[in-house]
Amino acid sequence: MDRLVLDVNGCFDAAAGGLTKDELAALAPVARAAFDQLEARRKAGEIGFPDLPGERALAAETAALARVLDARFDNLIVLGIGGSSLGGKAIVSALAHPNHNLLPSARRTGMRVFFPDNSDPATFDGLLSALDLADTCFATITKSGGTAETMAQHLVLRERCIVQFGEQGYRDRCVLVTDPTKGVLRKIAAAEGLRALSVPANIGGRFSALSPVGLLPVAAAGLDVMALLDGAAAMEARCRSGAPLENPALLLAATLHLSDVLRGRRIHVVMPYADGLRDLGDWFVQLWAESLGKSEKVGPTPFRAVGATDQHSSVQLMMEGPKDKVVSFVRVASPRVDVRIPMPASYREYPEIAYLEGHTMGELIAAEARSTEAALRRAGRPTLTLTLPRLDARAMGELIMLLELATAYAGGIYGVNAFDQPGVEAGKRYAQGLLGRPGFEKARDEILSRAEPDPVLVLG
Ligand code: PA5
Repeated sequence: MDRLVLDVNGCFDAAAGGLTKDELAALAPVARAAFDQLEARRKAGEIGFPDLPGERALAAETAALARVLDARFDNLIVLGIGGSSLGGKAIVSALAHPNHNLLPSARRTGMRVFFPDNSDPATFDGLLSALDLADTCFATITKSGGTAETMAQHLVLRERCIVQFGEQGYRDRCVLVTDPTKGVLRKIAAAEGLRALSVPANIGGRFSALSPVGLLPVAAAGLDVMALLDGAAAMEARCRSGAPLENPALLLAATLHLSDVLRGRRIHVVMPYADGLRDLGDWFVQLWAESLGKSEKVGPTPFRAVGATDQHSSVQLMMEGPKDKVVSFVRVASPRVDVRIPMPASYREYPEIAYLEGHTMGELIAAEARSTEAALRRAGRPTLTLTLPRLDARAMGELIMLLELATAYAGGIYGVNAFDQPGVEAGKRYAQGLLGRPGFEKARDEILSRAEPDPVLVLG
């Protein structure tokens, strides 16, 4: 097996209350229209993410900058949130040593890479106090250039660098990743003479994992960005048909859509059986939720679980709770490492554990994935499986492109624009109003004028 395999049999299993091929065939015209719509927007230059695998010069520029940073610094802090953080984090987690940041530099590929993501001061201060700033650089990644959380972190680091190392020390330590022309960060890059990489204008945050947004941290961690793009290119080439049975991303989108609207499977659980893919689950949740959550009729709500850990947690709910879920297993056919399970002779008398003799931990987790999938289907719960040949850069490129395309197609099938996020704007406006941003007085007044909480309903 040398490429990603999508198996949706578990959603078409009659015993699991599954879909029928006739239902899939009936959706074919809608699926084709969604495919055509994405192709048209792509050709018009509005949507750029499927073409990122071909942007080799940009990837090479990104990798070259990462090498420059690596030659001088040991730590990279990635300042970014949402789509400007989760993709790079997911790829680094999947491909780097599980304890990459703990390894001494002689045993590590590339730099230590940190993704504080949130603007929680405890996390941020905790990180800065744990690192030697002299040996640390930072990448401020924001497509819009004005995201409050990211810019707050940038301002803190900027000041600390200037105080400790002067203006040039700050310039040496800072790189920006932002829109090629728009936004305040682009202006700052010019005004302060900072190095800056561009996110192509037609690529939005959550679809930017294969742009410098994701590639810079990946390259900084010493990982192979070109192999990642090779895998993405291979998947993009597999997704050039408007027929669901010939296009894995379209089949995935159509299956999830039909399971939702015809069978009420309103929740999509993404459950990798590999710790390295835990962050991939978080990335996918953001990608799908922010892209599609735009109408009460649009599901399914994404939820991240991890096998085998969640077999001791939320799998109970998946197995016997409401029949409202599709569970997607993400498996790795050939794990990078395996560990033999030793069995001392003195333990052989305990049948509860003696059966583990002669097996490996890899065999154990594979058996658990297979068994949980079978048990879910037996309990009438639909499943699907994505199997990666290996957890390597090429396979990650395939997986990311598959899920991005599936999300974009799902937007077309559901009839929503997957590329905007109007629902998160109201909260941002209120926050900026509360913090006194000029022009946001109306938002401030609105939030301050909300009815006082009823004291009877407040305990404390
Ligand atoms: O997917 C998106 O568009 C968002 O999650 C953004 O990535 C997030 O809001 C950060 O935006 P920006 O990159 O402009 O700072």
